[in-house]
Amino acid sequence: MAAVLIKHLGQHVNEEVQIQGWLFNKRSSGKIRFIIIRDGSGQVQGTLVREETDPKLFDMAASVTQESSVRVTGMVREEPRAPSGYELTVTGLEIISGSEDYPITLKEHGVDFLADRRHLWIRGPRQASILRIRSEIEQAIRDFFYERDFILADSPIITALAAEGTTNLFEIDYHGEKAYLAQTGQLYSEATAMALGRVYNFGPVFRAEKSKTRRHLLEFWMAEAEMAYCDHEDNLKLQEELIYYIIQRVLQRKSLELKTLKRDLSKLESVSLPFPRISYTEAVRILQDNGEDFNWGEDFGAPQETMLSDRYASPLFVHRFPTQIKAFYMKPDPEDPKVVLGADLLAPEGYGEIIGGGQRIDDLELLRHRIKEHSLPEEEFQWYLDLRRYGSVPHAGFGLGIERAVAWICGIEHIREAVPFPRMLYRIRP
Ligand code: 4AD
Ligand code: MG
Repeated sequence: MAAVLIKHLGQHVNEEVQIQGWLFNKRSSGKIRFIIIRDGSGQVQGTLVREETDPKLFDMAASVTQESSVRVTGMVREEPRAPSGYELTVTGLEIISGSEDYPITLKEHGVDFLADRRHLWIRGPRQASILRIRSEIEQAIRDFFYERDFILADSPIITALAAEGTTNLFEIDYHGEKAYLAQTGQLYSEATAMALGRVYNFGPVFRAEKSKTRRHLLEFWMAEAEMAYCDHEDNLKLQEELIYYIIQRVLQRKSLELKTLKRDLSKLESVSLPFPRISYTEAVRILQDNGEDFNWGEDFGAPQETMLSDRYASPLFVHRFPTQIKAFYMKPDPEDPKVVLGADLLAPEGYGEIIGGGQRIDDLELLRHRIKEHSLPEEEFQWYLDLRRYGSVPHAGFGLGIERAVAWICGIEHIREAVPFPRMLYRIRP
């Protein structure tokens, strides 16, 4: 008998099936024993009634331990009270390998205890739900770009230049030469956009963040789009369409996982297009009107971002930040060069910035000047300047932080749960 996935049990009602997984939990009420099996795709409860079950099998259901690997056969029954809608009447149980003293019991554990055992913690229904939603989000991103004729152009992880400032670089020894782990793939995507038109890159990026917050990882994943012949406004439109697309996909396909996480669905359902837009200067006024001690030219911290995004049900674009606080490549607004044609997208419910993006400088001399102002080594940027020497065009792009998006959509407290193995200030193991 070929094994079926628990998530597909609905296609086999009143049939005998085999599932392969692990024992999540078991219960007993005298005459009936329950074994709860998980297989990675979901969870199902198997029932064994004493009078109707072979005694050996009935005993086995009592002795099998938490997280033993098991192969179970049983009849699929509809059960409206079960979270998935189905149950199994167990007809066979094979223990593949036992599991003694599994450290993560079903009672509450502290976060450090769990984080030390992340390799096991991810087996739990909550963590597994988050990781399944993450996978759906990543697939939605790939589909979104594919459907819109974007080319996936992977960017290098080892690089000789600092694209997002020099304060949080991971330095490595590249056969005696200084090199860095990429903070972004953007500069390379600008090159591939000039070759391929509309591109995206999707991979891990690295920032040696010194701050320990619930929003920062030292290694995180970013999906970055870059488009030739694209301006600031086109860029915002694509971003809001992407986020909306992701939300709809997760609502449609991951409702069981959202339920496991007790996510307030109304928050996701109330996200609608177009997303609100306010300028940085307007944002500063709003903050000051709300009694914040905040001056034009400062960067937002988490409390300010939350104060602004709390005013809306959809994510909020804050555009035209001061040139002085943004990256060297951002194009100044021709109508007011003190600000740039870029925006941050702030998620609702206090999740902060999920996207950073903008139009890029396309003028050779201005870009050169900005590289100098930022004290960056011009030699390293010659190839990047070439993009302005040979057929420069208006172009724009953005980067979506995957873990921030996952944390928001799942409604989880801390970004460490949004990735299988988080890399944080004081944590590199497991
Ligand atoms: O705003 P950032 O720094 O933008 C860039 O790197 C651009 N080069 C992207 C582009 O235009 N192609 O980072 C983009 C996003 C942020 O909005 C945030 O969601 C996420 O990456 N991010 C982090 N996520 C987790 N941990 C960190 N330490 C993060 N730093 C940024
Ligand atoms: Mg940013």
